[in-house]
Amino acid sequence: MSATGDRRDRWRRHWDRHSKTYDRQMGFMDRWLFRDTRSWTCRQATGEVLEVAIGTGLNLPHYPPGARLTGIDLSEAMLEIAHRRAADLGSSVDLRQGDAEALELPDASFDTVVYTFSLCAIPDHRAALAEMTRVLRPGGRLLLADHVASANRAVRAGQRLLEVATVPLGGEHFLRRPIELVRAAGFTVGRHERFALGIVERLAARKPGPDATEVS
Ligand SMILES: C[S@@+](CC[C@H](N)C(=O)[O-])C[C@H]1O[C@@H](n2cnc3c(N)ncnc32)[C@H](O)[C@@H]1O
Repeated sequence: MSATGDRRDRWRRHWDRHSKTYDRQMGFMDRWLFRDTRSWTCRQATGEVLEVAIGTGLNLPHYPPGARLTGIDLSEAMLEIAHRRAADLGSSVDLRQGDAEALELPDASFDTVVYTFSLCAIPDHRAALAEMTRVLRPGGRLLLADHVASANRAVRAGQRLLEVATVPLGGEHFLRRPIELVRAAGFTVGRHERFALGIVERLAARKPGPDATEVS
């Protein structure tokens, strides 16, 4: 197997192992740090929607009824839980195993791409954002929420220390700031909020294209 294949396999196994405890751990973070970010993000999704790295489907209850959702994730075990959640909710969602860094999806095929708390965990987040841009139609909407490098220097120093362990052991990055890459890719950022000492950032942005002036 190639070095990229080895790396992908390693993180797939990592997330398979963590699938059983994920909802409990994330529930704590949602309550105490991320607040209403899942509903803030998903309620802005329209049309053909792709959620990349959908995990166990914690966002599923927050999508509006008209959204036609496709979800991809590296981990089959995470996807199994998402399948059960979708069935319990009576939601129709096309769930597929896949790699955010190399999406097996056609160009310009989605109106909205959603990314929540995932770019921190994807090894090559630049490649993932490039793939997201490719599959989003011109003028399409990116909805992105994550924990990012804090606006506070002391907190950032703590995050730097934390990364010494979390990057090699859990693939978890704390010092990323995806909004900079989104702007550099020519997206127009509309709604944008940052809170909890700047650790949590959420945004809606438009890919350049015919409707890109309408930013919401
Ligand atoms: C912290 S969880 C976030 C899950 C979900 N987005 C949420 O908001 O709860 C990170 C997810 O990213 C997935 N992941 C990591 N690397 C990936 C990749 N290269 N391609 C697709 N999914 C990936 C993991 O399997 C895991 O489900």
